[in-house]
Amino acid sequence: YVQSRGESGLADGIYHFEPLTERLRLLHVPKPGEGLEGYFDDGCMVTGLVVLVTAIYYRSSWKYGQRALRYCLLDGGHILGAMEAAAYCTDRSCSWVTRFDRRRLQKDFGFLTRELPLAMGISGTRSSDRICRPQMSLDFVNGSGPFCRDPVIEQAFARVSSSSVCRSGKEAGTPYSDAKKDLKSIILRRRSIREFSGRPVSSAQYRAVCDMIRRNIALDCDEDIVVFSIVHRVEGMESGLYVDDRCLKKGDFAAMAGYLCLDQSLGADGAATFFLVGDSENYPALMLKAGLLGQRIYLASELQGLGCSGIGAFYDLEVADFLETDSLILYALAIGI
Ligand SMILES: Cc1cc2nc3c(=O)[nH]c(=O)nc-3n(C[C@H](O)[C@H](O)[C@H](O)COP(=O)(O)O)c2cc1C
Repeated sequence: YVQSRGESGLADGIYHFEPLTERLRLLHVPKPGEGLEGYFDDGCMVTGLVVLVTAIYYRSSWKYGQRALRYCLLDGGHILGAMEAAAYCTDRSCSWVTRFDRRRLQKDFGFLTRELPLAMGISGTRSSDRICRPQMSLDFVNGSGPFCRDPVIEQAFARVSSSSVCRSGKEAGTPYSDAKKDLKSIILRRRSIREFSGRPVSSAQYRAVCDMIRRNIALDCDEDIVVFSIVHRVEGMESGLYVDDRCLKKGDFAAMAGYLCLDQSLGADGAATFFLVGDSENYPALMLKAGLLGQRIYLASELQGLGCSGIGAFYDLEVADFLETDSLILYALAIGI
């Protein structure tokens, strides 16, 4: 969903974006002083665009069961990462809000408990003028056809949604410095790699991808994520388990990485397999950040001529054992050629 305010070429209003047709459908024209900012904690006005990212959870849970909540949040984070890259290509600013009144918004948009409001993106300028939530009550739209309620997902989402814990993010510029036309063509053509050749990548390529992970993120709640990397085919680097440049264990763990990724060869055959690890009561912000970093890893890999695949299916406990961590394993990604 997109809200436009004072944006040239797009009348003020709240729209639904239809990816298939790439069209915006006008849902509501807020009165002056009303808008999506009314759901933010601070209610401060945004002149420009506010993007609302949601997930219709049954589209994932029919297949992944309760694990779907993770996928919804990771996918949502990927969308935020896609916004970040698109904003860079179009010379726009971009930041994200994970603290907002999700329950009220769910009611006003007619989402029932089936559509989960995940995050908002801001591309515009903020002022101290206060905005109220829009006086609207949209009808429910069935976005999944069949639907089986999953009380665990709904309750978990409701519980973690109102977390009061939050570590504010740092001011962040764009993480990209590449030619805009190169990045744009990569955004348009990127796909998840389905099979690696088993050939090594250069250490410069690997480090360029790692560098992208470390750059600041303009999230209102910036939870700590540690990125472990099982390196198996990077020229000039000893195989082993790393955090940043620090080698924690030396050895060829390629087969182990494949096993940990639910026996998927993607985990074993690439140059390196990343595991994003963190712990926070603020689960939505943590997982959204993991997805956002995931999108950066995808695009940074493609910019280096490498392939990448997200890996959401892994053996949680075994990964934690191998990494010797008590924290949550949030997401894995493999890169290589
Ligand atoms: C959160 C997430 C988890 C994923 N997990 C896996 C996985 O475990 N195994 C796999 O082969 N692909 C995985 N993928 C890749 C998806 O299958 C792929 O992104 C999807 O089919 C869309 O294709 P595209 O990335 O080429 O556009 C994952 C992707 C995401 C975003």
